[in-house]
Amino acid sequence: MKLFIISLIFTACYAVPMDLSSKMFVFPEESATARVQLLPTGTNFTSVTVCLRFITDLTRTYSLFSMASRANNNDFLIFKLSAPGRFEMRTRGERAIFDGIPSEQNTWYSMCGTWDGNSRLVQLWTNGSPSTKKVGFQGTLDREPFIVLGQEQDSVGGKFDAGQSFVGMITDVHMYNYVLSPCEIQAFTNDLNFTPGNVINWRALEFISTGTVVLDNSQMNGCYRGQS
Ligand SMILES: *[C@@H]1O[C@H](CO)[C@@H](O)[C@H](O)[C@H]1NC(C)=O
Repeated sequence: MKLFIISLIFTACYAVPMDLSSKMFVFPEESATARVQLLPTGTNFTSVTVCLRFITDLTRTYSLFSMASRANNNDFLIFKLSAPGRFEMRTRGERAIFDGIPSEQNTWYSMCGTWDGNSRLVQLWTNGSPSTKKVGFQGTLDREPFIVLGQEQDSVGGKFDAGQSFVGMITDVHMYNYVLSPCEIQAFTNDLNFTPGNVINWRALEFISTGTVVLDNSQMNGCYRGQS
C-alpha cells in the first residue's frame, strides 16, 4: 500500500514540458524548502554550459544552479560566496574561485558558466564579459544528474541550507552539453536568437516546483510581445 502511494506521488509530479518564454521564477523569501527541480535530457556530460539570468538583493552566500549526482553533490555548481564579487564553480567537487565578478544588488545579470572536461577549464561570463579561466574537473560527469534552482544540494535532492538559498528572480535557464562560443554567449546575453539549451531548454522546460516559488511574468527587458 505504501509503495502504491509513493508511485502515485511520483506520477503526479512527472512534469510536462512548458514554454516559459517571458516567465520567471520568483523566490520571494528565504527558506530551506523552496526550490525548482529541472529535469534534464541526457547524462554523461564531457562539457557543460549553463546560462541564466537573475536578480537578487542578497549579500550572503547563495546558489544559482546546483547539479548533484550519486558521484558528487557538487557535480556542476554556480555559487555566490559572501565576499563581494566572489563566485565559485564546482565540477564534480573541484573548486574554481572567481573574483571581481559584477554582483550589484537589485540588478539583472546574464550569467554563463562553462566547463570543458578535456582541458579542465572553467569560466564564468557575466553580462557578456569573460572571467579568467580556471581549473576544474577532468573527465565525464556520469551518473544521474539531479538539478535544483533555489537551494544548494548537500545530498542528491536534499540537505538544503536556508543560508545558501536563493532569494530573488531567475529566468532563461539553459544547459548545453558543450561549451558555447563567445559569440553564442553574446547572443544569449543580448537575448538575440540564441540557440536554446539541448539539456535544459527554458522554452520546453520540465520542472517540479516545491514550496514558495511563484511563476510570474518576466520583467527583465520591460515589455515582451504578447504581454500586456
Ligand atoms: C553513461 O556512462 C555509463 C558508464 O559510466 C554507462 O554505463 C551508461 O550506459 C551511459 N549512459 C548513457 C545514456 O550513455
